Amino acid sequence: MKTRITRACQCSAAFAAAGLLLSACGSSGADGSGQTGATSFEGRGPITFVSGKDTTGTRQPLIDRWNKEHPKEKVTLIQLPSDADTQRQQMIQNAETKSDAYTVLYLDVVWTSEFAAHRWIDPLPGKQFPLDRMLKPVLETAKYRDGLYAVPSSSDGGMLYYRTDLLKKAGITQPPGTWAEMKSACAEVKKLPDAKDMSCYAGQFQKYEGLTVNFSEAVNSAGGTVTDGSGKPDVDTADAKKGLDFLVDSFKDGTIPKEAITYQEEESRQAFQAGKLIFLRNWPYVYSLAGKSEIAGKFAVAPLPGLDGPGSSSLGGHNLALSSFAKNKATALDFMKFYTSEETSRYFLKEAALAPAYAAFYDDKALVEQYPYLPVLKESILRAVPRPRVVQYGDVTASLQQEAYAALTGSKSSAQALKDLQKDLQQKSAAQ
Ligand code: GLC
Repeated sequence: MKTRITRACQCSAAFAAAGLLLSACGSSGADGSGQTGATSFEGRGPITFVSGKDTTGTRQPLIDRWNKEHPKEKVTLIQLPSDADTQRQQMIQNAETKSDAYTVLYLDVVWTSEFAAHRWIDPLPGKQFPLDRMLKPVLETAKYRDGLYAVPSSSDGGMLYYRTDLLKKAGITQPPGTWAEMKSACAEVKKLPDAKDMSCYAGQFQKYEGLTVNFSEAVNSAGGTVTDGSGKPDVDTADAKKGLDFLVDSFKDGTIPKEAITYQEEESRQAFQAGKLIFLRNWPYVYSLAGKSEIAGKFAVAPLPGLDGPGSSSLGGHNLALSSFAKNKATALDFMKFYTSEETSRYFLKEAALAPAYAAFYDDKALVEQYPYLPVLKESILRAVPRPRVVQYGDVTASLQQEAYAALTGSKSSAQALKDLQKDLQQKSAAQ
């Protein structure tokens, strides 16, 4: 993966002073209070909307609706590959060449600082969006130095998908709350003739952003941290090792199948739907797709398990940001309002099980009845741990991926991997 520390900012960063904190460089020009800074939202006409692959098939129909109502301001959907790292690289390439090919970006929540600090995205007029109705931690992901640089579209929280039919058959009445309970549930389920060839558990372990997510979740779910409260790397600890060891040992003892080292979200979803897995860690979008698959009616979700009790998810999701180099920004702003509205959010919840940013959806009785996973999802998002909010995110995630992968594939012991990761993160801090 391409790393970059390059010209993020020509100023001293908190990354150096306090660890992997949000870099305090540049002036934001946005305060989230309705001041738009230097951005002028002018120009109307065609624009593009750039996102990863739409695995849910729900984006184009919504855009078609917009296009019908705005024939002179049509939106073209540009779909990038489904893995987050490639999306990031392509969006950065577009920004570095100051191309106007991309207008509105479907930005992963972990890229806000990097894109804002480089001024690849514009500060936004917060007062024009109903931000006060959104979940607080979700809204935080759209800010850089208190300025608003993006608007939450969908949040994401990891959940444990499990086969209700098999657990029931094996006489297990509750989903597991800990890793040990999950392993013993698997041992029971695998005694059933129709489950004997199944694997117990998988997440996403290919060397990409999903591994950063799964590694961080394991560490956090064992009581460890990647960075401490002030942003300093603090990953070479006994607790973090317990988390990483859960993954390493699970690969060794077959709890996690070997092929899961190649899994991204989609491969792991397909394995679960094909009846190869009893438990799966994945995002809410799987709820909708699995609900239309062979295992429809045979699965449910629970909070992620941890070492001694419930685990914690990494906070995921996507926000809409406006490329600084785009044309027709007046159209773009209107499209962003449309795409992040409550009505659109309801559409994505219903059609694709995407996690709304709006708080009220999670407590709406009728919706909860229809979508029983909403309370688990809300809990997952509110308890979620953000990944480091740093300008040099590409470098940080590359280190996490490298060391976690080395441990999972056995080329390093987990102790060595955590030691090297700590050193690497510290060096990256000092180099700023
Ligand atoms: C999901 C999450 C995103 C995360 C990615 C990792 O798309 O919403 O935040 O970075 O998965 O694969």
